[in-house]
Amino acid sequence: MLVKFITTNKHKFAEASELCSRSGIQLSMVDLDYEEARADTCEQVVLSAINILSGEIKPPFIIEDSGLFVRSLNGFPGTYSAYVLKAIGLDGMLKLMRGNDDRSAKFVSVIGYWDGNKPCIFSGSVEGEISSELRGAGGFGYDPLFIPKGYKFTFAENMSLKAKLSHRIEAFRKFILHVKGENVW
Ligand code: IMP
Repeated sequence: MLVKFITTNKHKFAEASELCSRSGIQLSMVDLDYEEARADTCEQVVLSAINILSGEIKPPFIIEDSGLFVRSLNGFPGTYSAYVLKAIGLDGMLKLMRGNDDRSAKFVSVIGYWDGNKPCIFSGSVEGEISSELRGAGGFGYDPLFIPKGYKFTFAENMSLKAKLSHRIEAFRKFILHVKGENVW
């Protein structure tokens, strides 16, 4: 089964396509930069994108919106994670967290699947905390400062851990269960 994954992010694509290919779903990357809606939740961003893209791209396709939600910052940067990273970088994020005792945060991933009939949504999240310094060279985005709950490593330090328990992997497992009826937990 071939499904288009509309994204400009090759890291997201690599993480998703590896898992999907094991279940016989071949993802093809469509590197199309569309205008993202401004919204507080990834679900809203994804539904609005499906609305726009379903008029342009033949189904089946998926899109994914994700972000880092920091509890003590009321969920910031959330759906604005990509923009904030570009604007202030990881060092800027660490500065924002300086003197902050509550460092808990979560990554959220929401997949929107358009099969030509109705939009379907699959979401995943992983709890953790913001480290006090940048660690590791793997992954992308905020991976060097995110430590999943119960572990000492950042995602960037331990990519095999990320491949097991990330927000994106959880969302894609739900997607695979929906399209293939296969439980890949
Ligand atoms: P968007 O989904 O394209 O709006 O981008 C979400 C942004 O959130 C990315 O550009 C990253 O900065 C951040 N992000 C989402 N998922 C991850 C992840 O798995 N690791 C690190 N950063 C992530």
